Amino acid sequence: MSQLLDSAPREPALPPPDASWERDVGGIRVVFGAGRLSEAGALAARLGGRALLVTDPGLVASGHAAAALAALDAAGVEVETFAGVSPNPTTRDVEAGVAAARRRPVELIVALGGGSAMDCAKGINFLLTNGGRMEDYRGFGKAARPLLPALGIPSTAGTGSDAQSYALISQATTHRKMACGDPQARFRTVILDPELLTTVPPRVAAAAAMDALSHALESHVTSARTPASAARSLAAFRLLEPALAAAAEPAVASPADRGRLLLGAHLAGAAIEASMLGATHAAANPLTARFGVPHGEAVGLLLPAVIRYNAPAAEALYRELWPAGGAALAAWVERLRRELGLPARLAELGVAPAQLPALAAEASAEWTGRYNPRPVDRRACEELYASAL
Ligand SMILES: [Fe+2]
Repeated sequence: MSQLLDSAPREPALPPPDASWERDVGGIRVVFGAGRLSEAGALAARLGGRALLVTDPGLVASGHAAAALAALDAAGVEVETFAGVSPNPTTRDVEAGVAAARRRPVELIVALGGGSAMDCAKGINFLLTNGGRMEDYRGFGKAARPLLPALGIPSTAGTGSDAQSYALISQATTHRKMACGDPQARFRTVILDPELLTTVPPRVAAAAAMDALSHALESHVTSARTPASAARSLAAFRLLEPALAAAAEPAVASPADRGRLLLGAHLAGAAIEASMLGATHAAANPLTARFGVPHGEAVGLLLPAVIRYNAPAAEALYRELWPAGGAALAAWVERLRRELGLPARLAELGVAPAQLPALAAEASAEWTGRYNPRPVDRRACEELYASAL
């Protein structure tokens, strides 16, 4: 084995992705396995007897919300439901959820859905327990009073919000994303049930998988990375890499690949807790805010360009993930993006060259850019956009 591999971060040993298991992963009780949504009631009952279920219309339509409600009911947990979470949740979604929660006393929060439901549930938790507005919690550790315990049940393999102490909530008026974090905002327990992925629409699943991949790749090279975060990034990438080609058709993917995607997305999310993110997310966010591009599609558009931009500063780290190096890794991401049917050019999304300076100004002000391994200023952001035009 080469010296490079000898010095590479150690990956946490986890059971196979098609097994059923339960263990503490970085301070969160992870309950993993097909069909384990049925244990939501028993797991919730350990945290409290009166729950607010936060979910979205897609989960109601797929029947997963009814399954969760049945499990909660069977365990004797009383439930108030807020099923109004919208994609890229705003302060308005959070306020509507708080209003639902105030109908009766709530002792715990159960979040069922994609990253939007996870983030919205955390936002509701802040306002319900500590009052005020979402803006008051921007940053980290702003909650003065205890938050409610929460159970997270992700239904997509993407954001990794199920592993994080941050809620990403957009301001309703500006659509700018605010990152509001607190150690208590993390879920106490997370159910990772790969069967939930089977009902995700292909385009949504493909974009989510690209987001998870971007988290593993970005978190591995940031200036804030730690040995522990790097180990998680690496473990996430090893799980995701062989399963990503199957991500766009989760209904026919093998159970093992669904397990790899869900656990890989969770671990990549856990890596971000320490490592933060980089220029891909900084440049992707204005595309979502201004043009409504789904987050995973926006990161997929920029990820190869950012890897090439970063390679001079992060080549050794990219080689830990992809021995042929950053340029080859970027080319692989481009091939994968094509296989997943995701957009490759900004022009496809209606972005004109004249709009790049304004986008670059916003991207260079995004907090995630600060942790990029190679500094990114306004000009660098404009070049990144131009290379993806
Ligand atoms: Fe992301």
